[in-house]
Amino acid sequence: MTQESQPLLQVENVAKEFGHVTALEDVNLKVGKGEVLGLLGDNGAGKSTLMKILCGLHRPTRGQIIFDGEPVQLHSVTHARSLGIDCVHQDLALIPQLNIYHNMFLQRESLTGGPLAILNNKPMKEKARECLRDIGVNIPSVDVPVEQLSGGQRQAVAVARSVYSNSRLLLLDEPTAAMGAKEGAMILDVINRLRAKGEVSIIIIAHNYGHIFDVCDRINLLQNGRITFDKATADTSIQELTDIVVNEYRNVAKQAYA
Ligand SMILES: Nc1ncnc2c1ncn2[C@@H]1O[C@H](COP(=O)(O)OP(=O)(O)OP(=O)(O)O)[C@@H](O)[C@H]1O
Ligand SMILES: [Mg+2]
Repeated sequence: MTQESQPLLQVENVAKEFGHVTALEDVNLKVGKGEVLGLLGDNGAGKSTLMKILCGLHRPTRGQIIFDGEPVQLHSVTHARSLGIDCVHQDLALIPQLNIYHNMFLQRESLTGGPLAILNNKPMKEKARECLRDIGVNIPSVDVPVEQLSGGQRQAVAVARSVYSNSRLLLLDEPTAAMGAKEGAMILDVINRLRAKGEVSIIIIAHNYGHIFDVCDRINLLQNGRITFDKATADTSIQELTDIVVNEYRNVAKQAYA
């Protein structure tokens, strides 16, 4: 395989057990450089668990992760970030008491030089304003604590933070779930702009198939702890995916009532 065609991320035979609960059975997945992959699956399918493994929050029970051609053991979120893997979690991981710009620069704070380094607020504020303006999210001031924002606004801050982190792999776990139609469309726009630049690879989870079809190059479906479907977006349709998911439900229901 040439350097060019080498995927940025390869997940090989990854399993995750939480005590007696098997969240992931045997997951195999690839993300190319600059590719946007949509990850679909029912509630409880294991999507967030996979994201948490990829961002260093959970350790897999079995299996291997290969990042940029190298097998990696992701020890922590900080370790994953140092490799260029950044995640927007479903449960966001913002610090409610901190203001917007401190949240956006969490662990990447700008400091003044010298032995008594202190937070250099001015450039962080300006950058935070610029990021949110770019995304098109209307938040009156970046000085307000995140706890005073609506769910959708919090999600926008979390997405902006990730998008501007210079990551190589962005993991977006339901980034539009709490958003209104306009804000959701803005986030999809941002993802499409990143996709056009081709500098970052993205895995995006969403329950809204329309959103996935809007921004993704390829779509994977996670069912019963495995990837059961892998096609280029251009080669499939919302109807095909809906049929697969509904048929699975019907089969399960048939067995349950047999
Ligand atoms: N920390 C944990 N401890 C125990 N079980 C867990 C833990 N995290 C997830 N699980 C279990 O693993 C399974 C997969 O959960 P996960 O959150 O990955 O699903 P999901 O596909 O993200 O679902 P949703 O679409 O509802 O967000 C579920 O059965 C869940 O109860
Ligand atoms: Mg989830």
